[in-house]
Amino acid sequence: MNQSTVIKKGDELVLDIDSLAYGGKGVARVDDFVIFVKNAIPGQKVRALVYRKRKGYGEARPLEILTESPHMVAPRCDHFPTCGGCKVQQLDYEEQVAQKQQQVENIFLRQAGIKDFKVDAVIPAEHIYHYRNKMEFTFSNNRWVLPSESEEVERDFALGMHIPKRWDKILNIDACHIMPEIGTEILNKTQSLAKALKLKPYDQKTHNGFLRYLLMRFGHNTGDILVNLVTSYENPDLLKPLADGLIEAFPQVTTVVNNINTRKADVAFGEYELHLHGKSYLEEKLGYHTFEISANSFFQTNTVMADKLYQAALEGAKLRGEEVVFDLYCGTGSISLFLAQKAKEVHGFEVIVSAVEDATRNAVRNNMGNVHFHVANLDNFFKFGVGKKYPKPDVVVVDPPRAGMHKFMSNYLPKFGAEKIIYVSCNPTTQARDTEILQMKGYELKKLTVVDMFPHTPHVETVCIFQK
Ligand SMILES: C[S@@+](CC[C@H](N)C(=O)[O-])C[C@H]1O[C@@H](n2cnc3c(N)ncnc32)[C@H](O)[C@@H]1O
Repeated sequence: MNQSTVIKKGDELVLDIDSLAYGGKGVARVDDFVIFVKNAIPGQKVRALVYRKRKGYGEARPLEILTESPHMVAPRCDHFPTCGGCKVQQLDYEEQVAQKQQQVENIFLRQAGIKDFKVDAVIPAEHIYHYRNKMEFTFSNNRWVLPSESEEVERDFALGMHIPKRWDKILNIDACHIMPEIGTEILNKTQSLAKALKLKPYDQKTHNGFLRYLLMRFGHNTGDILVNLVTSYENPDLLKPLADGLIEAFPQVTTVVNNINTRKADVAFGEYELHLHGKSYLEEKLGYHTFEISANSFFQTNTVMADKLYQAALEGAKLRGEEVVFDLYCGTGSISLFLAQKAKEVHGFEVIVSAVEDATRNAVRNNMGNVHFHVANLDNFFKFGVGKKYPKPDVVVVDPPRAGMHKFMSNYLPKFGAEKIIYVSCNPTTQARDTEILQMKGYELKKLTVVDMFPHTPHVETVCIFQK
């Protein structure tokens, strides 16, 4: 009998987890009916409760592990799995990488129907802990209290992470192992100082309160540390004791800024920024270049692996020094500068003004006269023939945000007529969809490399090389 009609919400089933789905859930099959199981890893046999049934698939959570997976390792983090960040840290690292490769293959082959497809290369992470160069924590007066926590725990103060799918509750974080250890020390000090100074955390419901986010950036190759305290309004006198306390405790901190976000939107991105201490940006070295990165600019969050990702892009581009290159969604211009070493001319396009300013400064600082950056919203920038203002590109690099390219840009991309398209992506689903478009327009997928930038998390980074 077809299992999709038999299985229903509330059923308890014994399931064998055979793989990990993109997003981090375990996959089990009852005949051809797929069930996604939260916090379960390949190789486990679990007794699980079906909590949702949809057309074609079900969702379940484990009640009991009946047989443990040979790939199981003890999670390092005390906040696992409540935090929801490093969802797959109980899976050994080798298997995490193997599963990510399989996910990309599944998405391209089965979901998008790309033919004759295989992942050509997988580059695992060099460091599986302390690799993130940027972390963001949210202040809240609405702490998520765990059953194991004492009755006395302060419920009206938390600095940590959103509970998955709960916009209103924050899990207080004591330690995070994917950022450098000093990040945990700064986090703890910020918590104790903010409480001692009686600074009010922001309330998502009433929109009262002062402290909204703590954002930190770490220069992996420079030792620089940037702290951004995001507040809901400007009050330098109120913030100064907190900023001074951090500077005193951590002389290694090279920048402190205050972003002011008066909007209701839950983003650590201010309408404007006040500069409180040190340089106004963080410096980081990548390859032969030094980058100046301000609080709100995009920079790849794993410095060591960004280098490998860009090398993969550079190798794919096979530049000879004659080419015009476009770098779309260029952020602070790091790929642009990598490629400019071997190209005639590079044009970077990016929507965030401060990132374009950083990119321009970075080009000057690194004596790269052949790179030009342009503020552009690529959702419609090339719509009205504006492309004619620029030379025709031989190579186009795209590295869109997780949501993928706007439909207009996906369809416009082949119209540049470039010989090569290097497509860097943190979302294989949208990348596979765009691959179909490029193939229909005469581009051949020559190579796909998976680069693991984010160990223990479900995120996957890929580089596709297309040849016209
Ligand atoms: C994944 S990042 C890539 C940055 C850069 N390539 C790098 O490796 O550092 C995506 C970038 O796209 C930018 N972006 C997002 N939406 C955009 C849009 N509609 N037009 C132009 N840039 C956009 C973001 O600000 C971000 O800098």
